[in-house]
Amino acid sequence: MSAPDGGARAPEGAAALAGGATAQQRERATTIFEKGAPGRRAFVAPQLDVPHVDGLIPEQLRRAAPPLLPEASEPEIVRHYVNLSKRNFDLDSGFYPLGSCTMKHNPRLHERVAALAGHARLHPLQDPRRAQGALELMFNLQQALAQIAGLPHVSLQPSAGSHGELAGVLLTRAYHADRGQQRTKVLTPDSAHGTNPATVTMAGYEVVKVGLDAAGGVDVEDLRAKADDSVACLMLTNPSTLGIFDPNIEQIAEIVHGAGATLYYDGANLNAIMGYSRPGDMGFDIVHFNLHKTFTQPHGGGGPGAGPIAVSERIEPYLPRPQVVRREPSAPNGASRLVGGPPTFDLDHERGGPDTKSIGKLRGFQGNYGVFVRTYAYIRSLGAEGLKDVSEVAVLNANYLLARLGERVGDRLPLAFGERCMHEFVLSGAPLKKELGIRTLDLAKRLLDHGMHPPTVYFPLVVDEALLIEPTETETRETLDAFADAIAAIVAEAAEDPEIARNAPYTTPVRRLDEAGAAKRPRVRETISA
Ligand SMILES: Cc1ncc(COP(=O)(O)O)c(C=O)c1O
Repeated sequence: MSAPDGGARAPEGAAALAGGATAQQRERATTIFEKGAPGRRAFVAPQLDVPHVDGLIPEQLRRAAPPLLPEASEPEIVRHYVNLSKRNFDLDSGFYPLGSCTMKHNPRLHERVAALAGHARLHPLQDPRRAQGALELMFNLQQALAQIAGLPHVSLQPSAGSHGELAGVLLTRAYHADRGQQRTKVLTPDSAHGTNPATVTMAGYEVVKVGLDAAGGVDVEDLRAKADDSVACLMLTNPSTLGIFDPNIEQIAEIVHGAGATLYYDGANLNAIMGYSRPGDMGFDIVHFNLHKTFTQPHGGGGPGAGPIAVSERIEPYLPRPQVVRREPSAPNGASRLVGGPPTFDLDHERGGPDTKSIGKLRGFQGNYGVFVRTYAYIRSLGAEGLKDVSEVAVLNANYLLARLGERVGDRLPLAFGERCMHEFVLSGAPLKKELGIRTLDLAKRLLDHGMHPPTVYFPLVVDEALLIEPTETETRETLDAFADAIAAIVAEAAEDPEIARNAPYTTPVRRLDEAGAAKRPRVRETISA
């Protein structure tokens, strides 16, 4: 076998093909409880230097025996966790072109800034008067996001893209309710991200699918037929998850608004349009951002995120509260705390007053503040022109990779729609399945042996054997070429012997898993014996 960066890792014999264990599996992953020895310690606390007092903890709350905790030395602990971390694939060690997930490089500068004690140690219950810097940062971030979205008002409350979606649909409901209307349906196109219909259902609406036209955009005639006064909203992402910008967006906005509904923009990924076009200008009323994508900090597999929303004037009265606000010293209602001084920043828990139309609080405290800091650092360090460059290079990289793959394997992995793409593109593995007998999943698994994370597979659902590829702007031309080489090598190898891809991967800590089973029925308990 060769190294991950040295080309394909070929299996060495029938055992590998038969799904035998990898070297790391043979080593067996032991838990920290199985390491160490009784009495071994990493840290010994100093002797008590205050009087010992008996009975502070009531007898019935005391343990009969000490808990069974691991007893290990510091080097054992460090090695254990460092080795565990190496069993993961991560963006810092390899290419991660996970379409729709925007796994772009996370600049180290952001980490330094977010780790400053004033940020990292800020307590969520800190009095706003003693957290002026943090509130000012959040206020400025709201302003910057409003400019990027082209919509005047922003709330930082939602904590994920899907949470932003929920906030947006609840705002839509509040907007219609305020007009005495009980609308029951939300439209989503066939290419929608799975969280869109899930959100709609969670918010108590019926999901109604809108078809796609031949170019992969919204089927305008189907939309026209379905947009009636029972429809509360159309949720759309543009460019869509097919990587296509819908040129009919103004007509779509007209139809939706003509039916009295709101237009919701799933702005999880703004990488193709930042600085070029704005959802507000396209006619959208509500937008959510995934700060943990467009603004770096990708979090494959979970982790802290943030899904702020931006809204138009007509939706503003319903925004969640509290809102981060700036109070001018000369505020006529006497709200300023420092009259005559500089502006102050605050959390407006009372926005809208006693007759507020706000949908209320969406979460405890103010969200994942570290994500705000990194996002703000990103926006400020790049500036308006830099953000535009991001979009330009993201689209250029995607089209470059699309062209390279077209040259190498275009007949076996054709582009699903159109000829070019925005920041991502969808290939169909249908010919590969028909002609070589390997599926998109096999191709994806074999990519792991080339030291690369596979693209998103089997999404969007409208494409047979889909591969959704998003290289992002932070990858070099050499990396994109290496990816095209790896795909071409896998296809050529499958033409010779499809069994190799069907049994892949061979070099990862584990072979093929029942991934759905692992997510749905995780085994998280293990009996520990003394
Ligand atoms: C297009 C799109 N919408 C919404 C979401 C949901 O975002 P989150 O995972 O933060 O809930 C994603 C996330 O992958 C997405 O790609």
